[in-house]
Amino acid sequence: MKLKKSFLIISAGLLSSLVGYLSLRPDPEAQRFRELLKNQKKLSGTDLETAWQAEPPSHLLVQEIPYENIWFVGKYEDGGGVEIPFKPGRYPEKSQDSGPHHENPGFVGPEKCGECHQDTFQSFVEPGHYKTGRPVTHSTIDGKFEPGSNRFQTSDPTVAFEMIRRGEDYLHGVHFFDWECEVPMDIIFGSSKMAQTYLYWHEDRLYQHNVTHLTQGDQWINSPGFIDGDAAYARPIPQRCMECHMTYFDFRGGINRYSPDSLIMGVTCERCHGPGKAHADYHQQNPDAKDAFSITHPAKLTREREIEICGQCHSGTRDLKKDALTYRPGDRLGDHYHEPDADSDGKNSVHTSNQYNRLSKSSCFKQTEMTCVTCHDPHHNERGNARLFSKRCMTCHTREEDCGLFPKDDVKFADNCIGCHMPLRETAGLKLDSIEGDVFPPLRDHLIRIDQEATDEYLSK
Ligand code: HEC
Ligand code: HEC
Ligand code: HEC
Ligand code: HEC
Ligand code: HEC
Ligand code: HEC
Ligand code: HEC
Repeated sequence: MKLKKSFLIISAGLLSSLVGYLSLRPDPEAQRFRELLKNQKKLSGTDLETAWQAEPPSHLLVQEIPYENIWFVGKYEDGGGVEIPFKPGRYPEKSQDSGPHHENPGFVGPEKCGECHQDTFQSFVEPGHYKTGRPVTHSTIDGKFEPGSNRFQTSDPTVAFEMIRRGEDYLHGVHFFDWECEVPMDIIFGSSKMAQTYLYWHEDRLYQHNVTHLTQGDQWINSPGFIDGDAAYARPIPQRCMECHMTYFDFRGGINRYSPDSLIMGVTCERCHGPGKAHADYHQQNPDAKDAFSITHPAKLTREREIEICGQCHSGTRDLKKDALTYRPGDRLGDHYHEPDADSDGKNSVHTSNQYNRLSKSSCFKQTEMTCVTCHDPHHNERGNARLFSKRCMTCHTREEDCGLFPKDDVKFADNCIGCHMPLRETAGLKLDSIEGDVFPPLRDHLIRIDQEATDEYLSK
């Protein structure tokens, strides 16, 4: 029976990702910068005219799963198959009603902030937050689309995916026995640091693609939680998923109904500073005003409230108490979210290593007023710069001699405090099902500790 499996896929663990610390150099070229802005704004999605669809041949089973907006195309009653939220032989459809259904509470988007905070904006677009939600375009999409290297064959010989580029449009071709259907790629989740996964619209509903692009090895792979050999294109993108990868969206109801024109993509200024319309309007009308009006400066909050801003997305799986996007910087996180699962730094967490929880167990954290910003500058790309991060350790542990292992032949302590004390670790929650078996993308463990195993690994390199 298919129903059970679809449910499994829909409710299966959320995403994850991989290493591949691609150091993205800050690029000063104005041209590229403009290109980036232009791309971030392209909302229109795929021109569905180009998608090619055919009725499934009569030897395949076609079944509509009641009340779930899911169609199943299979060969055997109890086997795998293709799951799509639209009738086989048809296209996903564009929403005829793309405008907002609810009033925007004052989110204006980062370009607006950039009009006055130019430098902050220019540097802010480099690290992962800004790029973690963006439209599919020539310059944002990864992976190979050329015939010969654009096919992903699953372990089931009857199921394969083809990555198609047709003019401005990108699609997944799903091959199942002798039937084929095409699904457009509209939105990217993931900055490419580790991976990109793809979303598409059917009317006002957002769904995730079966295939994800893994940066490491430049390869196509099953999306996290998806089963190799299935072709699942009916997994809805719920509010919580959007809330961690998008700045703003107008939620219409159901599991995954959004107003297409309302999206402000990526994690941008206003998720850490609060909706900025009143602030921007005021300063536009009062250009001489020096004191900031109606905007949250995280550093002026208490330590706990400041860290909780990051905790919206970096404290494991927390279920919403109300709708998404009710939290505002300065609020108590607990008023909007339930406590994270007890084991959410382990296997059940949403593909993050739950930095907040892990860090708070460290003696560095417990014995000081440390926050996330002690080590992370939220407006600059500092990824992969071990020496710089080590300097941050050494604001407190000021001398190399403070390390109990010092001195040691061939170890330049100041170059890398983190390799031994904050090692990269696989997290069971980050499992990707690949044709070669499970892949676990390692993340930086934020529990700062003395770790003999990590030290041995480090010394043996
Ligand atoms: C019309 C110009 C203008 C726009 C647009 C604007 N700001 Fe400001 N912002 C200012 C001025 C002026 C100040 C006060 C001087 C300063 O701190 O730089 C300020 C200060 C701030 C501060 C520091 C607050 C404090 O308490 O010290 C933050 C944070 C901030 N803005 C964020 C934003 C965000 C986020 C946006 C976009 C939603 C934005 N600004 C849009 C002009 C602007
Ligand atoms: C991931 C969260 C986050 C995002 C996104 C973010 N900021 Fe900030 N911002 C902070 C934090 C935290 C501080 C306080 C930093 C400190 O204590 O040194 C801050 C400080 C500021 C300040 C005041 C101090 C300063 O550095 O001048 C301004 C202005 C500001 N941010 C503007 C922006 C703008 C504009 C954007 C978007 C282009 C943005 N921020 C995006 C977290 C964020
Ligand atoms: C609205 C959700 C959200 C908030 C709030 C948020 N983050 Fe993130 N953060 C993300 C997501 C999603 C990613 C993954 C981006 C990617 O690579 O696609 C990320 C990535 C990062 C990274 C890695 C960046 C890189 O380029 O490799 C750091 C560091 C980080 N966040 C720190 C913070 C800190 C510090 C705060 C609070 C000041 C914060 N984040 C607030 C969602 C959020
Ligand atoms: C609780 C917040 C949260 C939720 C919910 C969430 N994500 Fe993420 N996501 C993150 C964070 C944080 C990262 C970065 C991982 C890290 O560095 O810890 C990330 C990373 C990713 C990446 C890899 C980005 C890279 O670095 O290249 C993809 C792709 C992704 N998420 C997709 C999704 C999808 C699809 C969903 C919904 C099914 C989802 N996420 C739900 C917070 C979240
Ligand atoms: C004592 C320093 C320190 C503090 C405090 C800290 N981090 Fe980190 N964080 C690091 C280092 C080091 C890395 C690895 C950076 C790299 O290799 O690019 C990192 C990486 C990350 C990443 C990228 C994901 C990954 O696994 O590589 C995220 C997301 C992140 N930190 C979030 C946070 C959040 C949220 C907080 C606050 C709860 C926080 N960090 C506090 C040092 C710190
Ligand atoms: C805000 C100050 C501060 C920062 C920044 C800081 N620490 Fe600490 N750390 C402390 C304090 C205080 C202690 C407890 C006293 C001690 O052991 O020195 C501690 C303890 C430790 C310990 C001993 C832990 C144990 O369980 O015995 C290690 C290892 C350590 N820190 C490494 C680091 C590394 C690596 C970094 C950077 C990624 C870092 N610290 C950043 C303040 C800090
Ligand atoms: C090659 C691995 C390695 C590197 C690199 C390293 N450490 Fe350590 N560190 C250790 C080990 C192992 C110990 C435990 C030594 C012991 O007590 O026998 C330790 C102990 C510590 C302690 C606890 C000291 C105490 O007396 O309790 C601190 C603090 C610390 N390191 C900080 C740092 C800082 C800061 C850096 C970067 C400047 C750093 N470490 C670099 C492996 C390393």
